[in-house]
Formats: sequence, C-alpha cells, structure tokens
Amino acid sequence: MSNEARSDRFPHEPVLVDRVLEYLRPRPGGRYLDGTLGFGGHTAALLAETKGGAEILGLDRDREALEQARVRLIRAWPNARLFVRKARFSHFVEEMAGVGWDFLDGALLDLGISSHQVNSPHRGFSFLRDGPLDMRMDQDGAGLTASEVVNAYSPKELARIIAQFGEEPLAGRIARRIDQTRRQHPIETTLELVRVVESAYPPTRRARARNHPATRTFQALRMFVNDEIGELAGFLEHVVPWLAPEGRLVIISFHSLEDRLVKHFFQDQAKRCHCPPRQPFCLCGHQATLRILTKKPVIASSREVAVNPRSRSAKLRAACRLVEV
Ligand SMILES: C[S@@+](CC[C@H](N)C(=O)[O-])C[C@H]1O[C@@H](n2cnc3c(N)ncnc32)[C@H](O)[C@@H]1O
Repeated sequence: MSNEARSDRFPHEPVLVDRVLEYLRPRPGGRYLDGTLGFGGHTAALLAETKGGAEILGLDRDREALEQARVRLIRAWPNARLFVRKARFSHFVEEMAGVGWDFLDGALLDLGISSHQVNSPHRGFSFLRDGPLDMRMDQDGAGLTASEVVNAYSPKELARIIAQFGEEPLAGRIARRIDQTRRQHPIETTLELVRVVESAYPPTRRARARNHPATRTFQALRMFVNDEIGELAGFLEHVVPWLAPEGRLVIISFHSLEDRLVKHFFQDQAKRCHCPPRQPFCLCGHQATLRILTKKPVIASSREVAVNPRSRSAKLRAACRLVEV
C-alpha cells in the first residue's frame, strides 16, 4: 500500500490492511463489496492498490461514518466507480441490484464498531465516557436502544444476553443488580450502568480483573441491540452464490462467537458431502463451494498491535469461491 494511503489518518485506523489486500487481491475493473465501510480505511487501500480502478459498493448502517467516508474517498479518488449506501450488510443483495451488479469479485466485512463510534460519548458505546445508553449503530430508525433493554427486559433475559454475548461469568449477579437499581430509578446513562456493574463485582475479582468490569456487559448489550450475530449469519447465508469463480471472501471479527460462526461456515462450504460419516455413499449431492485460504485465523503482528491496539483481538479468515465443476 502507498505511503499516502497509510499516512491518511482518520478517526478509525483500519486493521490488517496488508492482509486484506493479500487475500482480496483487488484488481482494476473488479467489483468489491465493503459491507462495513466505516471511515473507508479498507476501501481507500483497495482503491490505492488498484490506482482507483476497483469498483466498490460500500455499505454502513451508520450515517455519520458514511458521510465522512464519502467525502474522504471522493476527494482522493474523484473518478472512481464508488457507490456509498446506507444499508445493513445483510441487505447487500438489494444494494447490489440498486447499482446493477450481479456478481462480486470480492467481499469484505470488518465487524464490530469503529474507534469513532466508541469515542463519541453521545452514541453510548463507551463505559469510559458519560452519555445516553443508546448503542445503536443506526441512529436514524426507531430501533431498540440499550436503555430499553436495561430498563425493561426481565432479569432472566438480561442475564442470558450478558452471558451469551459478553461471556460474562457474573451475568446473573449483574442482571440482579440492574433489576434492584431500576426499581428505584431508571438507568439512563453509560456511567450509571458502569456503577451498577461495578457494584456487582466482588472487590477481590475487581482487583484481579484484566479488563474493566463493564467491558463484557457493554459488549453484550451492543451486540444484542444491533443484532450483530444475526446480521453476520444473514450475510453468510446469501453471499456465496454472488461471488464470481475465484471471488474472495474476507471477514475480520473481534468476538469469539463471530469468529466461530465464520469458521464453521467456511468449513461447511468447503466440504463436498454433508451426509453422516457412517453412510456408505453420498445421498446429499452437496458440492463444495469455497476453498479456505486461511487454515488458522490471521492475527495482527506485535508491531501493528503496538500502533493500533484495537487490532489485538482481530481475527481474519478468508475463502475463495470454487469454480463450478
Ligand atoms: C470496524 S468498523 C469498519 C471500519 C472500516 N473498515 C474502516 O476501515 O474504516 C465497523 C463498521 O461497520 C458498521 N457495521 C456494523 N455492523 C453493520 C451491519 N450489519 N451493516 C452495515 N454496517 C455495519 C459499523 O457502523 C462500523 O462503521
């Protein structure tokens, strides 16, 4: 990637850029979906790599991010065939139809939220900054907010959400503490919720913990509010038939549930037959559709982690569409 693209500092530093280029192999004239455009860091790299020649459909559900990405990318590549649309990536088929595309040479998802979203107190994603308990990536609609979940869901349901999406061992205690607090007054801000979660942590555990006690609870609420696992599953369910032969699929995840989903999906698609192992001959007739390019997830180098700490938990998996036989 050019130094110009590298030094183009933006509110979000993209992760694993060189590896994305290595696996996506963008070429001039190729058509690429960036399903999580964010601030356009990866798309800028794809354009730089192809001297502005790649065609890109960039989606994001966050209007603030899209506006900034649009300005940045159009300024740098005024003649590029770049389509920026506000949409969820699980709706990529409709968005492709809207720009007249019927195949993809590559698709990229860089999951989770951007540094800009975390660092904007009014979005309510951060347990370090006070703000409304919102956590919606798309603030335009009437979607569920974290405040509605925290103040209205049953303690049992809250515990399930915090355990499932946050993998928080103290989920039950935290849910009960939330319930006790909200019986007195609604929990309306991020720092109010932080105090409640902290109060559920025994002091010895708090002292030993590597992360802030609210890390897992905030992550769980964010994933639930934005249906992040449902979005990923919906995308995977439909994407393969839209990939051209040899088309690439690159997914960067930051959560073990997401990474597991991608790993199992790739393994499933790479298998020729889905019949039970003891069945003597194949009845399912399933054909493999993908070749896995990353045996293990690709992670950031220690050098990248030092300059971009967000890359610490990034896991990249890539696969390639098999040519029909
Ligand atoms: C990690 S950031 C992507 C950063 C981007 N690759 C860059 O270089 O700037 C993730 C982005 O994906 C968006 N996002 C997350 N889930 C989404 C979904 N289901 N549909 C569309 N956008 C989504 C978020 O709003 C956020 O802007």
